[in-house]
Formats: sequence, structure tokens, C-alpha cells
Amino acid sequence: MKKLDIPILLATGRQGRFSEAVAHYVLAQAKDYGFETQLVDVRDYSTTVTIPPWEEKKGKKTWSKIMAQADGLIIVSPEYNHGYPGEFKIVFDQLEKEYAKKPVAVCGVSDGRFGGARLVGVMLPILRTLQMVALKNSVHFSTVDELFDEAGKIKDQSYQGKLKKMFDELNWYAAALKKAREKDL
Ligand SMILES: Cc1cc2nc3c(=O)[nH]c(=O)nc-3n(C[C@H](O)[C@H](O)[C@H](O)COP(=O)(O)O)c2cc1C
Repeated sequence: MKKLDIPILLATGRQGRFSEAVAHYVLAQAKDYGFETQLVDVRDYSTTVTIPPWEEKKGKKTWSKIMAQADGLIIVSPEYNHGYPGEFKIVFDQLEKEYAKKPVAVCGVSDGRFGGARLVGVMLPILRTLQMVALKNSVHFSTVDELFDEAGKIKDQSYQGKLKKMFDELNWYAAALKKAREKDL
């Protein structure tokens, strides 16, 4: 059977971002779980102004093809002022139909104790507006500035189990919705 295709969107382009290490960790875990996956970095798709889906992205790469083929999405995002990074919104607003009827899981990141819990809540209306199915099992990466050693290895092994729970939910919805979308065709 073809593997489910679940790209991972790294939602911040900040210089020195700790979320990058989280995204690489989630990527490795998602591959081990059995998903077809790749990292999508907002740095590669961000523009200075919003370019909506119906406007041509002149000379700019678009991530439309990646998301059109995807069976679901994982977003790895830090919390900035109780919200999401501006570049996430710019990149996310580039597409529309590519997201519809697909599951999405959010991994929140912060250097505090809550691991971006408020960010996840703020993202939900956006995901719902784009007809995505937002999952219950978010993973919150807290105190991220202390979470990885110098070699980039995660110090807290409990995240493996938390991600497994998120992947299980994602797997169920991705498979069920894929079947349902194919019936629509
Ligand atoms: C502009 C800005 C706003 C921030 N606001 C919050 C916040 O509201 N809550 C929080 O827990 N951390 C906040 N942080 C700190 C992040 O948790 C911290 O940068 C962390 O390392 C995760 O983000 P990173 O990928 O940018 O490193 C903020 C950081 C920046 C740069």
C-alpha cells in the first residue's frame, strides 16, 4: 500500500529559530512511523506581501504541488505574542483548495512551560476556515532552548510517545479522508 504523504511545515523563518530542531526531530519520527514526508520551510515560500491563491506567484516558488499531493499536514510553529509567526500566515494564505478535507496536527513550540499551547488555539479558526480537520493530539514542545544537546539530539525521550499518539490519530484521519475524497472524484 502507498504510504500516506504528510509534509511538515516549519512556520517560522526567524534567524536562530529553535523550532528548526523540533521540525527535524518530528520529521525523523514521522519517517520512522511510516509516513512519506518532507520538511517545508516558510523561508523558501515567504513573500513580503500576501499573494492569494487566485493570483499568479510571479517567479516565486509555490508549495501548491506539495500540499495538493499531501494526505494531511503537520505544522511545527513557535508561539509569538500568543499567536503564530507572520510568515506562517503569508505562506498559508497562498493556497486554499489544496488543504480541504485533510487532517492537520500542530506541534507548538516555546521557551516557556506551555509549549505554544495558546498558539495552537489561535490557529484553529484558520485551519477550520480552510476546511481542514484539526486533530486533538497536539504536541507541545516546552523549554525548547534547553531541549536539544549540542549534537542536536533531543534530551527528553517522552516526546517520542507523545508524537506516536499524534501520528496514530493523524494516520486514522488521513486514511479515512483520503478514501472519502477519492469517492468524491
Ligand atoms: C516575537 C516573539 C514573540 C514571542 N512571544 C512568545 C509568547 O507569546 N509566548 C511564549 O511562550 N514565547 C514567546 N516567544 C519566545 C519563543 O517561545 C521562543 O523564541 C522559542 O525559542 C520558540 O521560537 P523560535 O523557533 O523562534 O526559537 C516569543 C519570541 C519572539 C521572537
